[in-house]
Amino acid sequence: MSKYILPVSVFGTAFGCAVLLKNYISGGTCASKVKIPGKTVIITGANTGIGKETVRELARRGGRIIMGCRDMEKCEAAAREIRGKTLNKHVYAKYIDLASIKSIKAFVEKIQEEEERVDVLINNAGVMRCPPGKTEDGFDMQFGVNYLGHFLLTYLLLDKLKSSAPSRIINLSSVAHVGGEMDFDDLNWDHRKFDTKKAYSQSKLAIVLFTRELAKKLEGTGVTVNALHPGVVATDLGRHTGLHQSQLSSTVLSPFFFLFVKSPTLGAQSSVYLAVAKELDGISGRYYDVMTEKDPAPQALDDKASERLWHASVALLGLNNQTVLHAHPAPLSAIKKLETKS
Ligand SMILES: NC(=O)c1ccc[n+]([C@@H]2O[C@H](COP(=O)([O-])OP(=O)(O)OC[C@H]3O[C@@H](n4cnc5c(N)ncnc54)[C@H](OP(=O)(O)O)[C@@H]3O)[C@@H](O)[C@H]2O)c1
Repeated sequence: MSKYILPVSVFGTAFGCAVLLKNYISGGTCASKVKIPGKTVIITGANTGIGKETVRELARRGGRIIMGCRDMEKCEAAAREIRGKTLNKHVYAKYIDLASIKSIKAFVEKIQEEEERVDVLINNAGVMRCPPGKTEDGFDMQFGVNYLGHFLLTYLLLDKLKSSAPSRIINLSSVAHVGGEMDFDDLNWDHRKFDTKKAYSQSKLAIVLFTRELAKKLEGTGVTVNALHPGVVATDLGRHTGLHQSQLSSTVLSPFFFLFVKSPTLGAQSSVYLAVAKELDGISGRYYDVMTEKDPAPQALDDKASERLWHASVALLGLNNQTVLHAHPAPLSAIKKLETKS
């Protein structure tokens, strides 16, 4: 028996350290116990990954949840599963394709007609390092879906968010924004040699710049907006990367992944925290690394760039900037303006 004591205790200690290290790396779980009955949450890209687990937790807390997805079969299945598991019947699947101005506009029109309020908007959907491609409206796929699509969705929902205040907007960025650069002469990669990694980083940098600019525009309205990096999470996000598809990652590297990559349930904690935590009342324009406020990369703190990006986005989307700068934008008229584009 004694010959086993040493190896067993070494294994036990190593395993315990690995679990502690993993907990430390993952950033833990949202400590807030706040329930959200009567609150309406819209979340994009909610059929899988971080989005789906965010829905599950917010449904458990009693919210009315609208899942905005492009694949209705997967979205209905996820909504059904979450309704069953949480016993919250107010979890709904709605179609939105963030690669289409027309679809975003149709989604917002339905929300305007059917929902009295929107308390939380979580801009979660994303694509990473996909092959070169354009959205329906000719925008680079990653810039269009990750950033411009969410810019438009947010812009068109601002009046609902303002009339529901205090309300919150949560933008999923990524630590990848650190490697991002805004090329204002070629935001959609029409002229440069396409680099899928840089395109992802640019889209995530744009999200942080947008968050800071929108926070300034929303001062005094009771609507806050913050950005986050959820950590490194085991989801389908890497479906276009070589590593995701390789044998090496599923065999040799998987023990390291156990340590450094967290589950979607843990990955959802930062979105849940930013959506519910009492201590974040009135906090706006910040960047959170998991659940800790941090300074984003220096290029994300460039006020001239955030203002320039705002104007470029308004122009690309054919919006009337005036509507958002005043207390109550008129999104229906903004939607009508878009009819010429879509
Ligand atoms: N996982 C990570 O380690 C990590 C790290 C940093 C940041 N993030 C960010 O976290 C967010 C959630 O990512 P995830 O890891 O949960 O990835 P995921 O599992 O791939 O989920 C992404 C979601 O976005 C949806 N989506 C993609 N294109 C869309 C479009 N045109 N219209 C509507 N929905 C669309 C996907 O729908 P389909 O199922 O139909 O494709 C899916 O529901 C993303 O913004 C991502 O950039 C993730």
